[in-house]
Amino acid sequence: MRQVNGVRPEAEAETEPIADIRALFDMYQIGVAWHCVCAISRLRVPDRLVGGARPMPLLAAEVGADEDALRRVLRLLSSHGIVAFDPVADEVSLTGRGRLLCASHPMSLQATFATLGISDVAHALTETLVTGHAAAPHVLGTGFWEYLASQPDKQTAFGEAMVEQAQLLSLPCLPLLDWPAGGVVVDVAGGIGVLTAGVLVEEPELAVVLVDQPHVLTLAVPYLESQGVIDRCTLHPGDLFVPPPPGDLYLLARVLHDWDDASAVRILRAVANGAPPGARLRLFEDLLPEHGVPSPQQNWSDVAMMVLYEGAKERTLTEYQRLLERGGWLFERVVTGPPGMSVIEASRGRTPAGPDTGEVEP
Ligand SMILES: C[S@@+](CC[C@H](N)C(=O)[O-])C[C@H]1O[C@@H](n2cnc3c(N)ncnc32)[C@H](O)[C@@H]1O
Repeated sequence: MRQVNGVRPEAEAETEPIADIRALFDMYQIGVAWHCVCAISRLRVPDRLVGGARPMPLLAAEVGADEDALRRVLRLLSSHGIVAFDPVADEVSLTGRGRLLCASHPMSLQATFATLGISDVAHALTETLVTGHAAAPHVLGTGFWEYLASQPDKQTAFGEAMVEQAQLLSLPCLPLLDWPAGGVVVDVAGGIGVLTAGVLVEEPELAVVLVDQPHVLTLAVPYLESQGVIDRCTLHPGDLFVPPPPGDLYLLARVLHDWDDASAVRILRAVANGAPPGARLRLFEDLLPEHGVPSPQQNWSDVAMMVLYEGAKERTLTEYQRLLERGGWLFERVVTGPPGMSVIEASRGRTPAGPDTGEVEP
């Protein structure tokens, strides 16, 4: 059967609708499975199963869940290979896939599922589709960052999710890059410091200034202590739109895709205005292809950004180059990291960044 991107042509679909009906029902059902994974991750159910199979009544009591509800959710997840459910013994155990949802796993995705994020706001996607605006303020009553700031446990989970994702995407880029022999790296909006710690561990001669919102930096302290690097790190409470402290090299990792073009330019100009002449900049971002179809993961992330943050989007290298130019930076080169991550390198323009004069012609 001829297929385009795994989808059958319309004429065939009309005469053979069963496979497509099944595919659509799979999509219909997978949304519930996704919410089930988020819910068991938030209650840390997989962590309770690390030691082996557990009887349902005991497990429900340990995680503070309703026993019947938990049994039914885990039974559903057993058909997705996340747990094994034994209905006779009424006990449940983890599979290899489920083990990745334990917080203690070195490649854990527990916080990625547990964090406040797309699972909380995607149901309001119709709002975004009609208005073109992010759904998060519509659902949360305020902007995503402001809401996180008001909910300390959710802020903690978000920080942990950023660590998990940076471990998979950003940290593998570090050995691919040339680092200065000494000096100061400024990790702007560096969260709880996963990249900061990665740089400090790999490059013992460097010091890092970690810049983020004050309540985020409070969470960075135990993380940096746990990595044994806090003594080479300065914590600088700061705003993205205000020039950061002077440094030799600035990092903006997975920050610009959270913002619309005008805000991204303001951020780049703020960094340029804090940077001494000769300073360099590294952007860690996933780059959309210049031509052709983005990967499914990129399409997912692009829509997720659109729903979560006003004007946010994934971009091509050309689009980042234009932002850099408007932001007072000279593009130098791009280093390709693991799938889903690239590093764009730039240096500070000769003159400090003045007011933005608008879109630079291609
Ligand atoms: C997507 S996270 C990326 C964190 C980190 N760079 C990483 O790669 O894991 C974006 C970061 O931007 C920070 N942020 C958002 N708005 C900010 C603002 N106005 N000033 C400073 N930081 C801000 C958030 O606190 C968060 O840590």
